[in-house]
Parts: sequence; C-alpha cells; structure tokens
Amino acid sequence: MAKVTLRDDITALPSYVAGARPSGSLTEKLSSNENPYPPLPRVVTAVADAATDMNRYPDMAAAGVREAIAAYHGVREDQVVVGNGSVGVLETILRALTSAGDEVVFAWRSFEAYPILTQVAGATPVPVPLTAGAEHDLEAMIAAVTPRTKAVLLCTPNNPTGPALGTAQVRRVLESVPKDVLVVIDEAYVEFIRDQADPLDSVALLREDPRVVVLRTFSKAYGLAGLRVGYALGRARLIAGFQATTTPFAVNALAQTAAVESLAAQDELLARVDAVVAERTRVLAALRQQGWSIPDAQGNFVWFGVGDAAGVLATAFARAGVLVRPFAGDGVRVTIGEPEANDIVIAVAGEFLAAGAPTS
Ligand SMILES: Cc1ncc(COP(=O)(O)O)c(C=O)c1O
Repeated sequence: MAKVTLRDDITALPSYVAGARPSGSLTEKLSSNENPYPPLPRVVTAVADAATDMNRYPDMAAAGVREAIAAYHGVREDQVVVGNGSVGVLETILRALTSAGDEVVFAWRSFEAYPILTQVAGATPVPVPLTAGAEHDLEAMIAAVTPRTKAVLLCTPNNPTGPALGTAQVRRVLESVPKDVLVVIDEAYVEFIRDQADPLDSVALLREDPRVVVLRTFSKAYGLAGLRVGYALGRARLIAGFQATTTPFAVNALAQTAAVESLAAQDELLARVDAVVAERTRVLAALRQQGWSIPDAQGNFVWFGVGDAAGVLATAFARAGVLVRPFAGDGVRVTIGEPEANDIVIAVAGEFLAAGAPTS
C-alpha cells in the first residue's frame, strides 16, 4: 500500500543525543555543558515582566537583541543574525548555503550536531579525525576540501575535547581554502578560554575576510540554555541570506528580553564564568596529579579520552550520582559544575585509575 515517505537520508540520520536528564539517585547533571548557576534575579524579573505580553508576537527582526549584540562587538546590526540557539543559526546557515552534493568539512569528534545539520540541509558531511592530542587536524581538514566544499566548520574550544584554536591556525585555514568556501568559527565556549598562547580575535578576522562567520550563544557563559538564543556575525550580504532562511519569529519574546538583559549584566555573568574557570583549573590539576592525561580544557568541560572504556567510566560516574556524557569508543565529557559535584568527579576518576583503567 502506498504510504508517505521521508527523504532516505533523513530516515538514516543518527538522532541527536542530548545530555541525559537527572533521575532517581542521579543528582548531579554534568552531561550538557550547562552553566551551574541559576539565572540572575534581574534577568528573571525582566523575563517575568515580558511574560505578561506573551499574547503578542515577538519582534520578528529581533531588533533590540541585534542592536545590543552589534554594539557589544562593534559591528553593524545588519551583520548580526539571531536564532533559536546557535544550533538553530547553524542550521539556517547550512540551509542557505548548501544543495545536494555539496560538502561540509568539520573535525571529528566535535559538536555532534554538525553531521546531522549538514545532512538535514541536504549536503554531505566530511568529518576529519582529530589529532592524537584531540585537536583539530587542520592540515588534514585543508586536504579534505574539494571543489564541492561549501563550508569548513571550526569548533573552538572543541566540544567535547577542549582545545582551542589560535590566530595563526585559523589564518592558515583561511589562506588555504578557496575564496568561495565559508569558514564558520563556532565559539560557543569562547568566554571560558584563558591563557592561550595565540588567542583568536574572531571578530577582527571577520573584518579582514568576507568568508568568516562567527557563531556565538547565550546558552553557556550567559546561562540561558533553556531559553534558546544564539547568533552569527558575518558580512551583511551573507547575513541577509541567513536571515531570509530563518524560521519566522525563531527567537521568542522572553529569550529576546533575557538576552538583552544578560548583555547588560555582563560583568556579573562573566564573574561567574571566572568561578567556573577556577573550578576547571582545580579539577584539571587534581586529575593530572592522579595521572590522567586530559587535553587542554578551554571550555566548561573536561575530556577523558578513554576510548572503548567510555561506557564503563560513565557508569562509574553514574553510580556516584553524576550524569556525564559518554561518546562510545571515544571518551567521556564531564561538565564543570559546582564544587561539590566536581569533588565527586575527582574522587570517581581517582578510583577508576586506581582500579587499573586507561588514563587517556
Ligand atoms: C560547539 C557548540 N556549538 C553550538 C552549540 C549549540 O548551543 P545552543 O544551540 O544552545 O546555542 C553547542 C551546544 O552544546 C556547542 O557545544
């Protein structure tokens, strides 16, 4: 009998595995790279006020948020597009850019939405394995570019492994890939980067090179993961195309309000990021002291590259009440949480090593 069929490539898609939710004795959720702090009272108040108008559509152009973002970065408003999280913005970008047969190059393992969004857009994902040190293998990525390549996605710091890219590295990519290939710099965790030898100023690069698009989010440092708002910065011509591809009213009214209020409360929010970074430093030092070989952790998470032991290590954390994110065959990503949760992580990791498990 005839039936409605989906596109074959959609039926074959792996599903996006979101960080698990706490249940039963699993009380510490370190599986989704969220901010452990609750929203600031002034942000909650602004959102509650805005909620009284929710019978109205939001501002479709999201003018207030785009204006605030543009002012923050020193770019024009027509260089900013907002979306339903930065994952929503990336979906829009890939839809605007690619057709069947086009290719999108990215490091792997990296943010798990990359292959899915590429395929949903109808293009072909080209994952390029990370180096042994869990960093982007930029030369291999450059070599993977073909005449069909429409975009290269750079994730810095890389989720889930942690290392960040420097200016010289990103320049090397820009020098090496053709002039018609978009280079998306996904900086979801940029606010957590510290002490980098060659820090990247992606917004400055944007001014130099028309192929650069910078992707940012309010979900991590700004603690608005539940409201869904992210954005991209780029040349006005490209941004107009992305804007035209965006779902109408993609950013709801409460999210728009919270984003504007959060940018205004930036000092307070970035002080919290400092506290997370201090915890990251403490956790890293403790793990390395135990003998773990953890890659440079520049996001709000640490990476245990245990390969096939990922499931066993994740179960050990779960037994201690901590939800983490295993990636089968590769390793385990653990978000930096509140000090008590981090103490459990350190203790479990130490016991795992003492039991003779792999260190990297
Ligand atoms: C590298 C990276 N980019 C983008 C995102 C998407 O964030 P959001 O859609 O919440 O803005 C994430 C979320 O985990 C991420 O890790």
